[in-house]
Amino acid sequence: MLHLRNTRSRRLPVASLAASLAAIVAIAGSLAGCSSTPGGTPTPAPALRAVSGSRYFGTAVDEPQLDLDATYSAILGSQFSSVTAENSMKWTSTEPTKGTFDWSMADKFVAFAQAHGQKIHGHNLVWHNQLPSWLDAGSFSKTELSDLLQGHITAEVGRYAGKIAAWDVVNEPLNEDGTMRDSIWLENLGQGYIADALKWAHAADPAAKLYINDYNLESVGPKSDAMYDLAKSLKAAGAPLDGIGFQGHLDTTYPFPSDWAKNMQRFADLGLEVAITELDVRVNVPADAAALASQAGYYKDAVSACVAVSRCVGVTVWEFTDKYSWVPTAFPGEGAACLYDSDMAPKPAFAAVEQAFLGK
Ligand code: XIL
Repeated sequence: MLHLRNTRSRRLPVASLAASLAAIVAIAGSLAGCSSTPGGTPTPAPALRAVSGSRYFGTAVDEPQLDLDATYSAILGSQFSSVTAENSMKWTSTEPTKGTFDWSMADKFVAFAQAHGQKIHGHNLVWHNQLPSWLDAGSFSKTELSDLLQGHITAEVGRYAGKIAAWDVVNEPLNEDGTMRDSIWLENLGQGYIADALKWAHAADPAAKLYINDYNLESVGPKSDAMYDLAKSLKAAGAPLDGIGFQGHLDTTYPFPSDWAKNMQRFADLGLEVAITELDVRVNVPADAAALASQAGYYKDAVSACVAVSRCVGVTVWEFTDKYSWVPTAFPGEGAACLYDSDMAPKPAFAAVEQAFLGK
């Protein structure tokens, strides 16, 4: 299975640790579920899932961590009200052999979420990546491929019907210039694969909210304009599209997308819900205190953008700890993108998220 997982333990330089000590001490109580008053009396500190109010606060989680890492599981269960499977529900995990499904990892992920009262954001059903080789390298007629897609969607959505709040039905369908991304789906089925996928997912679980999800959608521009046009035409054609997911893989070497709330609002005005589905904020590594402070600002502004849009239903971070983040593998030279460091200590971004939800 293709997992670009990072398991290296990366420590901050001593200078950065000292500089960010005050922030860490101030929020360390959140990890243990308590904080200190000036008089030293411990008071319960609300978890992020409590301060996020009517919105959910979620994280991606990779199923193997649930067994490996008790500290990870404890934070996961206590801080987050929604979870997204980082890999366990992708096609390569669930249908590794044609017509033979393996639900073992997805089932375990779903059971954890249910045991902790968490919503589940299903990810994903149609994508150009992480397809099993029998499918990617196979040769199928248009009808065969369409039947395979319908069968896969029907099986997966049907298995978890009633348990999944929302599905990323189609992931990353667009290029940066706003054209449709080349994939086995577009190439063989044409653009109609999107409406078909939505229709089949809806038939398998009429209660689940159905999303299209993509990255670099934050600002108004060719890609988000194309997503807007796509969403509008799908709605006009009566396709069961409920939401647009803004992944939000941010990088502090670029300016924060300051029109993000305004951009989300125009999708909301189409009658759709919106969500930030994969937030992380990468910095150049090793990260110093200034980088972590800048990162905290990006997290705060991202959560505030969602809070500013009444139809923005929640924010999900793409893993909550640098220990397991996909970023260093995907973006060499960058990393430290999460709310917790590799030693599971909350970073300044943790408090920034809390403040944003509280409107501070
Ligand atoms: C990434 C996972 O985090 C990695 O573990 C995996 O190796 C590759 O995929 N956009 C998406 C996610 O929609 O599914 C990707 O997840 C990150 C980018």
